[in-house]
Amino acid sequence: MDKKIVEEMIELAMEQLRFSYTPYSGFKVGAALLTKDGKLYTGCNIENAAYTPTNCAERTAFFKAVSEGEKEFQAICVVGGKDGVLTEYAAPCGVCRQVMMEFCNPDTFQIILATSKEQYEIFTLKELLPLGFGPKNLA
Ligand code: THU
Repeated sequence: MDKKIVEEMIELAMEQLRFSYTPYSGFKVGAALLTKDGKLYTGCNIENAAYTPTNCAERTAFFKAVSEGEKEFQAICVVGGKDGVLTEYAAPCGVCRQVMMEFCNPDTFQIILATSKEQYEIFTLKELLPLGFGPKNLA
């Protein structure tokens, strides 16, 4: 991936940490999702007193984008940490990987995990969700 885009996505994902609503876990996550035609959608995690309605940052970004008519994506950047301090990579949970599987090609969709603009690693969806079940299985 183009380094400039990756850095822009990391910056955007980090900016979302201030919107993250986490009165229960204090674990703040931000995401920036890149469409195939180059548009960026952001997301943060939003917790809930009943716990299960909590939405992860990645799904917030996907649902914002899909609700605006987007269905083709090339990459997502995810950052997160306790109290918003980025010490380790915040890898997407299983539910978020499954949502990615719905809209993304597992061989080409890129997941950028970062702790800073200088420190990041890029994985394909297939690497993080091997043998994933997706729309092709029902075709
Ligand atoms: N969280 C995310 O936003 N993304 C993930 O993929 C992992 C978990 C959030 C959900 C919850 O608000 C907090 O992190 C702790 O699980």
